Amino acid sequence: MTFFDREVEVNGKTLKISQQYVGDVGGVVWDSALVLNGFLENISGKIKGKNILELGAGTGVTGLIAAYFGARVSITDTAEFLPLIEKNIEQNKELIKLSPVYPFCLDWRYFDENEKLETPEHVTKKLELPFDIIILSDCIYYEPAVNWLFLTLKSLAKENCEIYMSMEYRPEKVPLVKEFFEKMKSSGFKMSIEKETVPEELRCPDIDVFKFVR
Ligand SMILES: C[S@@+](CC[C@H](N)C(=O)[O-])C[C@H]1O[C@@H](n2cnc3c(N)ncnc32)[C@H](O)[C@@H]1O
Repeated sequence: MTFFDREVEVNGKTLKISQQYVGDVGGVVWDSALVLNGFLENISGKIKGKNILELGAGTGVTGLIAAYFGARVSITDTAEFLPLIEKNIEQNKELIKLSPVYPFCLDWRYFDENEKLETPEHVTKKLELPFDIIILSDCIYYEPAVNWLFLTLKSLAKENCEIYMSMEYRPEKVPLVKEFFEKMKSSGFKMSIEKETVPEELRCPDIDVFKFVR
């Protein structure tokens, strides 16, 4: 596998993030992730010591930022991206050495009983402790995943859990996004947009951070 690195700044420090030339979309850092990173930096006082889950992490950069700010972080994606996530954890270990970080495969299909895909026992164990915060960026982009992601969040976001999801608006994805928001709303999640908490230099018309709470 050939990698190309990018540097991601956080709080005056630099994370080295490897990205993949080949493979599915998770192999690179998406702009939505950079916006969510800046958002986390702005709420860093609030995430210290919290139990955080990152879904669809890709390179794992946003989970690493959460760990840098002192959270206990589960960084998850499909099995395909675990080696990349583990590589990025390893090469930034000095910056996150005070925070426990757990990379593991968490496929959203586990939460759709029609998929008949059993959640492995070691994953179920990792999900036992309730999450304070769930983070995800740019994860609504293909039809079946809308329902999988909704079911995953419905199952894992217990009372008081805050979900922060960044997303780039893409005209062709509007129906998927609408479907996702409708499912979340009908399941009792309240949604708001975090405009002010995104650092000014990262604010742009086509990316927002959404907050969901029950
Ligand atoms: C557009 S990428 C975003 C990656 C990263 N969050 C970012 O913003 O840089 C979408 C991510 O969702 C993950 N994903 C897609 N389907 C998934 C599934 N069924 N279970 C878990 N993760 C999935 C992909 O592997 C990929 O890493």
